[in-house]
Amino acid sequence: MSVSRHFKNVWLLVVTFSIAAAPLAWADSLSSKTDAGEARVNYMLYCQGCHLSDGAGSSRAEVPEMKDYVGNFLKVPQGREYLVRVPGSANAPIGDDQLANLLNWILLTIAGESTPKGFTPYSGEEVGEMREKSLTNIVTLRSNLIEEINKTTAGLDTHAMRASQ
Ligand code: HEC
Repeated sequence: MSVSRHFKNVWLLVVTFSIAAAPLAWADSLSSKTDAGEARVNYMLYCQGCHLSDGAGSSRAEVPEMKDYVGNFLKVPQGREYLVRVPGSANAPIGDDQLANLLNWILLTIAGESTPKGFTPYSGEEVGEMREKSLTNIVTLRSNLIEEINKTTAGLDTHAMRASQ
């Protein structure tokens, strides 16, 4: 797993703050391979600091809102891959099965109605292959994807932070 230089300091911080809660994550990950409990703990440890507990994000810190929106990426080509390859996902210090479980959980809870009905859950193997390829121009890719999403769900785009910065 490659950790980009850009994210290294952030992860150091995240890891530092996570040490107190880490035994809980280990204990939980033993109980089941794919479950909501594990996903919730990983989200809390590795995502919530930026994305907030309900996925609302922060427009001031330029963290996009995942709540009731992030599932839309599954509706456009390359979107499925984007959710895995975005640095917050790809560089999370968790295994492929855990990342697949975490993304599936996000799509089934935080994403609300935005997730297409009957979506195919990510598998650890799929996630493993995708996260190997790091993203280069995230801002452009993201804004292109959102342009595509807006074509599929015209008029539904009312949340902040959807346009590229
Ligand atoms: C350091 C802050 C930070 C952390 C921690 C973080 N993210 Fe993110 N996340 C972002 C930012 C900023 C973006 C917007 C794309 C970009 O610039 O990377 C984003 C975008 C995303 C997206 C795509 C949504 C969109 O609208 O573009 C997903 C999915 C995502 N993050 C998942 C996660 C997961 C899962 C974790 C925890 C394992 C996580 N992120 C941890 C900051 C963070």
